[in-house]
Amino acid sequence: MDRIEISKAGSFKGKFSPTPDKSISHRAVIFSSLSKGKSIIRNLLMAEDVISTINAFRALGVDISEVSPPIHPSPARRMAGGPSRGEGKGGGDISELIINGRGLYGLKEPFDVIDCGNSGTTMRLLSGVLSGNPFFSVLTGDESLRKRPMGRVITPLRQMGADIVARGEDKYPPIAVKGKKLKPIKYTLPVASAQVKSAILLAGLYADGDTEITEPVKSRDHTERMIPAFGAETKVDGLCVRIRGGIELKGTEVYIPGDFSSAAFFIIGALLIKNSDITIEGVGVNPTRTGLINTLKEMGADIEIYNIKNLSGEPVADIRCKGGVELKAINVTKEQVPALIDEFPILCVAATQATGTTTIRGAEELRVKESDRIKSMATELRKMGAEIEEFEDGLSITGKGRLKGTVVESYKDHRIAMAMSIAALIGEGTTTIDGISSVNISFPGFFDILKRLTA
Ligand code: S3P
Repeated sequence: MDRIEISKAGSFKGKFSPTPDKSISHRAVIFSSLSKGKSIIRNLLMAEDVISTINAFRALGVDISEVSPPIHPSPARRMAGGPSRGEGKGGGDISELIINGRGLYGLKEPFDVIDCGNSGTTMRLLSGVLSGNPFFSVLTGDESLRKRPMGRVITPLRQMGADIVARGEDKYPPIAVKGKKLKPIKYTLPVASAQVKSAILLAGLYADGDTEITEPVKSRDHTERMIPAFGAETKVDGLCVRIRGGIELKGTEVYIPGDFSSAAFFIIGALLIKNSDITIEGVGVNPTRTGLINTLKEMGADIEIYNIKNLSGEPVADIRCKGGVELKAINVTKEQVPALIDEFPILCVAATQATGTTTIRGAEELRVKESDRIKSMATELRKMGAEIEEFEDGLSITGKGRLKGTVVESYKDHRIAMAMSIAALIGEGTTTIDGISSVNISFPGFFDILKRLTA
């Protein structure tokens, strides 16, 4: 049965490391595959989305091998032809990968359609790579991914000269690409999106000259931070990023920090459950990702960030978080959304326990994530008794109401499944969450940690 029953918890206590960062893991696999020579990726997230990226590059002829010894082989593994994966320190799957890259022009035409599974990052970033490669390829995905907008990458990639078409008048997957010699462009993103920015930066590696991208609000900058380690040239100037084309990448070593977006579920769990005190070690605290910390502090939360260091160009820290603080409602505006885009579902759970009405607006992007996250959270939290008004671009939640246990669903969306599991810990009685296997998209050990902290 793809469901779990979770009862109200008395406290949340302990220390753990979250699974490695999903966004940074994708990028490490992509840049290593496009480099000449050997790369070693330490602490890579072996969750379904990243496995989609690994499988895609294997299909494109890249030699990728896993070196960590498997500790508890996972039956759920769907890594094509790979050895069984190990269960990592956070209960999630973590691995060290060796990639013998083929260089920018060494990929080979795939024999079949490439299946990106549930992963928008795999599909959008790969579209950029494939646009510069002189062969035919088709990208598809699961039912959720096939409904997600791809026009946002197709438009700029066509401007660069790519021959690229898609279903539904070039809006939705599958996408078919015939790579061409690309030309550099200057492009202003209509929406802040790290996936679109990264797709253009990757295509920019294949263009003759400098490609320049300007964003309306800064989105996560892991691509810009990682590229120089592989020898490419980028320049960041405020909201503008420039990349020089035609430079061969060289293999290197990359360390992946813990995923702040995975840690976020436990940070809010600890805040909402009285008598809680948790420490999360080795979490990536890149400011383009940690908007939730600022928002929670504004709400009155007790969160300490310390032991900050720099690992492979990313800031990493330990986070301590205590419960029992009275939270107050806040307003989240459009400019704040990109830095907490993936934390929206769990922020909604926090808002149900704050005094006053929390409003999140300018967040229409959430309607085109793995599920329509505005609708998913409004519908499921209402089932537990929350008072919520839904808008086209967000919602408002009037807090302090008691949540009660019932049956809720995940819409096969990993972040909805995890957010509703935290809601279940503060709901009266027992809550059943349907569709929990979706957590394997980003956080395979999620329920193990949950159990450990509530034990
Ligand atoms: C991601 C960027 C974000 C985020 C997604 C991962 C990335 O999407 O929601 O989970 O790795 O670049 P957008 O940049 O499209 O908003």
